[in-house]
Amino acid sequence: MYKAFFNLTRNPFELTPDPSFLFPTKRHNEALAALYYGVRRHKGFVVVTGEVGTGKTLLLRCLLQLLKQSKDVAYAYIFNSLLSPTEFLQYILADFGLPVSGKNKSELLFDLSQFLIARGSKKLTTVLIVDEAHHLSTEILEEVRLLTNLETAEDKLLQIALVGQPELDEKLDSVGLRQLKQRIALRARLDSLDEIETKGYIERRLRIAGASSEMNTLFSSQTLAAIYHHSRGFPRLINTICENALISAYARESRTVTPDIIEDVAKELRLDVVHSPETETDGHNEIDVQRAISALLDLYSASESDAMPPEARSSERK
Ligand SMILES: Nc1ncnc2c1ncn2[C@@H]1O[C@H](COP(=O)(O)OP(=O)(O)OP(=O)(O)O)[C@@H](O)[C@H]1O
Ligand SMILES: [Mg+2]
Repeated sequence: MYKAFFNLTRNPFELTPDPSFLFPTKRHNEALAALYYGVRRHKGFVVVTGEVGTGKTLLLRCLLQLLKQSKDVAYAYIFNSLLSPTEFLQYILADFGLPVSGKNKSELLFDLSQFLIARGSKKLTTVLIVDEAHHLSTEILEEVRLLTNLETAEDKLLQIALVGQPELDEKLDSVGLRQLKQRIALRARLDSLDEIETKGYIERRLRIAGASSEMNTLFSSQTLAAIYHHSRGFPRLINTICENALISAYARESRTVTPDIIEDVAKELRLDVVHSPETETDGHNEIDVQRAISALLDLYSASESDAMPPEARSSERK
């Protein structure tokens, strides 16, 4: 509703994770590279964790976009992790296009192994991607461990990416799951943005939405500082604040989002009661992903001005 008023071509702060808006911070690059490199190099098992609203689902959508470019990759994407072990397997097989009805757990496992062996013999890549993996029960994580065992002498047949909130790390650290933890080949962690990144993040979103020349008049540096203060650099919160601030400025017929608009929005959203999470020690693996990072940066700089094509967007499943 405010797009015409601010000369924008699209909504800059929509909450749907849209890969064309990716702002590649160092951590987002590392995590995406770990996911992509893990899958393409058949590393087996990759884990990415991050606080609420830090861009995990967005990264998975970026990963899927990259994987869709290769004909030799098939993936199952699970984002409902509140499933029983049998339902979990059914969901995976169904996503790979295999028949599931009337089959018990061992039949499902047998069919999955056959499918993976057949694909593996043709040197094809098969991936299981689980979003919201912090919800996975210990039972299902044990199933995941068994799936990581599906390998030949030379190669892992199923690449697995688990992505979830920090509780996933805690689960994987538990004694009962130490066997699974040992199998993690690559691990990355997302976090909130710092102040400079927050500014760059907002600028990039506005630019993609068509606001290039008006950026400085729309959000002054004091306004950006107030957004950082109230969002603590959490991308989803930044979006919510900015979206509400644009609506509020529009209602006041103000072409500029002033710092007091941000204060009002923060009060309405009760952001003063949000605490920043405890600072975690940097658990990043020092992983050899520099080549993958630069390949991804090339890919995303190419799409800097291009919005994601509508057909790709409509094929998203969440
Ligand atoms: N690096 C980024 N660049 C651009 N947008 C981002 C980035 N990180 C997060 N976002 C945006 O922030 C919002 C929240 O991201 P997303 O839904 O991916 O978070 P999440 O980590 O999956 O959260 P949750 O733990 O609640 O599932 C989305 O609108 C997403 O597009
Ligand atoms: Mg998510």
